[in-house]
Amino acid sequence: MAGFRFATCPRLVCEQGGSAQLGSLASELGLRHAFVVTDRFLHDQGLLGPALTSLEQAGIRVTLYHDVQADPPEGVVQDAVARATSAGIDGVIGFGGGSSLDTAKLVALLARSPQDIASIYGVDLARGPRWPLIQVPTTAGTGSEVTPIAILTTPSDEKKGVVSNALYPDIAVLDSTLTLGLPAAITAMTGIDAMVHAIEAYTSRHRKNPVSDALARQALASLYHNLPRVLADGRDAAAREAMLLGSLLAGMAFANAPVAAVHALAYPLGGLFHLPHGLTNALVLAPVLAFNREAACAAYAELERCLDPDASRDDQIASQAFVARMTALVAAMPFGRHLSDHGVTEADLPRLARDAMAVQRLLVNNPREVTEADALALYRAVL
Ligand SMILES: NC(=O)c1ccc[n+]([C@@H]2O[C@H](COP(=O)([O-])OP(=O)(O)OC[C@H]3O[C@@H](n4cnc5c(N)ncnc54)[C@H](O)[C@@H]3O)[C@@H](O)[C@H]2O)c1
Ligand SMILES: [Fe+2]
Repeated sequence: MAGFRFATCPRLVCEQGGSAQLGSLASELGLRHAFVVTDRFLHDQGLLGPALTSLEQAGIRVTLYHDVQADPPEGVVQDAVARATSAGIDGVIGFGGGSSLDTAKLVALLARSPQDIASIYGVDLARGPRWPLIQVPTTAGTGSEVTPIAILTTPSDEKKGVVSNALYPDIAVLDSTLTLGLPAAITAMTGIDAMVHAIEAYTSRHRKNPVSDALARQALASLYHNLPRVLADGRDAAAREAMLLGSLLAGMAFANAPVAAVHALAYPLGGLFHLPHGLTNALVLAPVLAFNREAACAAYAELERCLDPDASRDDQIASQAFVARMTALVAAMPFGRHLSDHGVTEADLPRLARDAMAVQRLLVNNPREVTEADALALYRAVL
């Protein structure tokens, strides 16, 4: 077996109502003044109530930042870093979807080790130390609570990632009660994003390994079987927890075996059209799976058998069944599955294909090489 490395977030608390323990967890990390990062909607919903009460009871001062925007623009991070620095915080708590968690990661780093954001996009360019960091996801989801990645939107509408071991949070808190009110469309989009993390980690060309494989398989099974349940009944607590755990396991997997062409083609749709991240993945998933199928035949067949133990032993047949299964899943989701349903026209496709080619950080992980002509054809297939 080839050697490999694996890293993840060192501590995990998974408990319904667990966000009410933030006070004691933050105290254990030595926090006295926490910067809590979230978005206005979650704040206005009162979702932070138990978390803020527990911080107060632990005697921890809180500076609340609730101005995170989806697919955070660089300016939001700069604004948050300035507020955190002037408030004199000594720790950060991210509370929300991937947008809040990614912003929290960069605030924890940049408020302690100032660096120009534009200079740290890419792998291992950011340098620590950072302030202690606790992450509480409210979508299931990005898995950002256990990844060393933060994705921003640049002033030129590109989505770019900062990837650095300095960004692994200290503690991830999974409290599924926070996700009980997640609307169906967001549940579906974020759930597909998490599944794509598992699938792309499982077929990642360079750093796939036995640990990421085990996590990806468990993640995909948990997400696939529970997504219909949470869509049928959003208040199904057991299924919500299984989704949150599936999203975390997928995050652990792709933090080590990085994602590929689905994400590379999704990014320009997010950057140029400001469509939600999970939706952009869902839109390009079916054509990319079909495009990859021969190159990823054995891996897709294994994933099919992990979802259906009675699947064919023939890799060709099982891998085709896997592509058909995932295509049918996307078609059953409560959102339009064509680019044109979301404002994209034929005239936009060349720019999208060109921008996708710039995401080489991810394209190199794809089981099959993707040219600009391929990218154009893949977008056209779902127009
Ligand atoms: N760091 C990583 O490893 C990683 C991985 C994948 C994606 N991402 C990034 O994460 C971002 C997307 O994150 P996301 O999909 O979680 O969405 P998000 O954080 O942008 O939130 C989407 C919407 O859902 C709402 N929402 C969140 N939780 C809710 C809840 N419990 N109830 C009701 N509404 C709720 C938010 O208020 C917001 O309006 C993108 O910027 C993407 O690029 C990061
Ligand atoms: Fe993603």
